[in-house]
Amino acid sequence: MVESDIENVTVLGAGSMGHGIAELAAIAGYDVVVRDIEEELVADGLEEVEWSLGKLEEKGKLDDSADAVRARMTGETDLAAAVADADLVVEAIPENLDLKRDTFAEVDDHAPDHAILASNTSGLSITAIGAATDRPEQVVGTHFFNPPVKMDLVEVVHGEQTSEATLTAAHEFVADLGKRAIDVKRDVHGFIVNNVMLPFIEEGAWMLADGDATVRQADAAMVYQRGYPMGPFELADYTGIDIAYHFREDTDLDSPPTIAEKVEADDLGKKTGRGFYDWEGDGPDYEP
Ligand code: 3HC
Repeated sequence: MVESDIENVTVLGAGSMGHGIAELAAIAGYDVVVRDIEEELVADGLEEVEWSLGKLEEKGKLDDSADAVRARMTGETDLAAAVADADLVVEAIPENLDLKRDTFAEVDDHAPDHAILASNTSGLSITAIGAATDRPEQVVGTHFFNPPVKMDLVEVVHGEQTSEATLTAAHEFVADLGKRAIDVKRDVHGFIVNNVMLPFIEEGAWMLADGDATVRQADAAMVYQRGYPMGPFELADYTGIDIAYHFREDTDLDSPPTIAEKVEADDLGKKTGRGFYDWEGDGPDYEP
């Protein structure tokens, strides 16, 4: 349960990362506001939370009832109202630096002076995001993984001006959610996990482009030989093929053509129903 000075948490973005982080915070005992730009998006996110809490309750994984956890969560569309009482704001909006900087500047105007502002960016610069505010020492990266409720790790990312007090509070928060943290001291593009994970996906995609492996072969190899929970193509579909593509746009390296083609066709994986697999049909099936 909550032990630090943080009591009220606001999560910006009710998509898969946002609603998952909000759910975790409510499970840990925080009062949580979930904010998105449209009521329907907030309602969809809270519906996912209810499904997930039901599953966790069914399996005896909650200390409180699902209803009690859900009662700690409220939805909001107005940004100023959403952050007015926040001790911690966790941003999980789309991966666009200008959008994030504009949002952080607005949050800075409306959140209490003491509030810590965290970003769930997958790899954009925490320093650049913090520079859009008048409190860069209170801006930090907290990079969760999809699905946040099930994944153990969070990267806590230092911006150049992030203070020790902010880092300590971020680590306490992550520990309070029952997660392990990697302390990412250099604000490098993609932090640590995505720099290690993306080549895994891309190497499969290059082999596919060269005709050296099929989607099912590459996934079967990693699942049945390496024991990974998902192979490169299922993982790309699961996290969104566009995420892998946009990650490379900010570097000197090109995405494999097999990834670019999927993005051009808007076949982004699970979220659009089709990617390397057909998620409206049987989904991944790579029994050798
Ligand atoms: N909440 C509650 N329960 C959930 C749930 C959730 N969010 N998601 C799944 N469950 C339930 C399922 O419904 C199922 O319940 P049942 O037993 O009653 O049917 C149970 O948990 C087990 O489900 P699965 O069999 O689907 O789950 P697995 O045990 O196989 O694990 C997984 C699923 C955790 C997604 C696993 O496949 C995995 O770890 N995959 C890799 C995911 C990964 O690497 N994520 C990181 C991506 S990178 C990223 O996010 C960063 C970004 O910057 C790109």
